[in-house]
Amino acid sequence: MEYKNLLIETVDGITTLTVNRPQVLNALNSEVVQELECALYELDLDSAVKAVVVTGAGEKAFVAGADIKEMAGMSSFDAHDFSRRGQRLMLLMERMRKPVIAAVNGYALGGGLELALACDFIYASEKAKFGFPEVGLGVIPGFGGTQNLARLIGPNKANELVFSGRIIGAAQACEWGIVNELCAPEELLSRALDTAREIAAKGPLGVAYAKDAIANGLNMTKEDGFRYEASLFGVLFATGDQREGMGAFLEKRSTNFTGK
Ligand code: CAA
Repeated sequence: MEYKNLLIETVDGITTLTVNRPQVLNALNSEVVQELECALYELDLDSAVKAVVVTGAGEKAFVAGADIKEMAGMSSFDAHDFSRRGQRLMLLMERMRKPVIAAVNGYALGGGLELALACDFIYASEKAKFGFPEVGLGVIPGFGGTQNLARLIGPNKANELVFSGRIIGAAQACEWGIVNELCAPEELLSRALDTAREIAAKGPLGVAYAKDAIANGLNMTKEDGFRYEASLFGVLFATGDQREGMGAFLEKRSTNFTGK
C-alpha cells in the first residue's frame, strides 16, 4: 500500500518506517495517525518482517507532536475521538508481535514522545530532545503519554516532566530511563538496525511471546504475571521454533527458525 506521509523500506527482514512530513517537523495529523496504524498492522502480518525501526524524516525532528494546526479548531467530541485514535495506534504497537524500536533523531515532543514510548524501547541521537509541552497549550498528553510515561519512569519524574512542559536533552532522558542508548547522530539508525538484526536472528515466536509477557504482565499482579508467563512458556514447547532452538544447541549448529 502507498502512504502519503510515510516512507517504508524493508531490507533483510528489518523495516525502517519513517514519518515523512519534515516541513512541519513530522507532526502527527489524523491522516498520519491512520497511515501509521494501517502500515504497522500490515507489517505485523507480513511474515517477511522480523522487526521495525521507527524514525522521523529530516535532521531536526523525530515527531514534534500532534498537529497543532489541525487540533486548534477541534470540538470536544473531535478531540476525544482524535485522542482515542492515537491511543489505538499506541496500543497496536504494544500488542504487535514484532519488536518495534524508536530511533529518535531530534525533537520527540507531545504525540512524538508518545509514539516513541509506544515502541518497545528507544535509541536516541545525542541531539534529541524530549518533552510534553501540552500543558503550555492548555491541554494534556492525549496519545497515552500520561499512562506510559508514569509506568516507565514512575509518577514523580513523569509529574515533573508533564506539569512543567519542560524540554529535556537526550542525556537526561537516558538518565531517567526513557532512552536505552545514546548514539552519535550519524550512527543512530545503524545502531538501531544492528539491534533489530540481533533480535531478528532469534526465534520469532520467543521474541513475540516475550513481548507479550512483559507488556501484559505489567498490568497484572506479580502472581498473575508469573502464571501468564508459565502458560506462554508452555505453549512455546508446542512450536517448531522451540524444537529448532534447543535442537540446534544440542547438535552444536546454528539455528534456522521459521516462526512456526
Ligand atoms: N504541529 C503543527 N506544526 C508544527 C508542530 C506541531 N506539533 N511542530 C512544529 N510545527 C511546524 C511549525 O509550525 C513550523 O511551520 P511553519 O514553517 O509553517 O511556521 C515548522 O513546523 C517548523 O517549526 P518551527 O519554526 O517552530 O521550528 P523551531 O526550530 O523554531 O522550533 C519546536 C521547534 C520547538 C519543536 C517548535 O516547532 C514547537 O514547539 N513545536 C510544537 C511542539 C508541541 O507543542 N508539541 C505538542 C503538540 S500537542 C500534542 O502532541 C497532543 C497529544 O499528546 C496528542
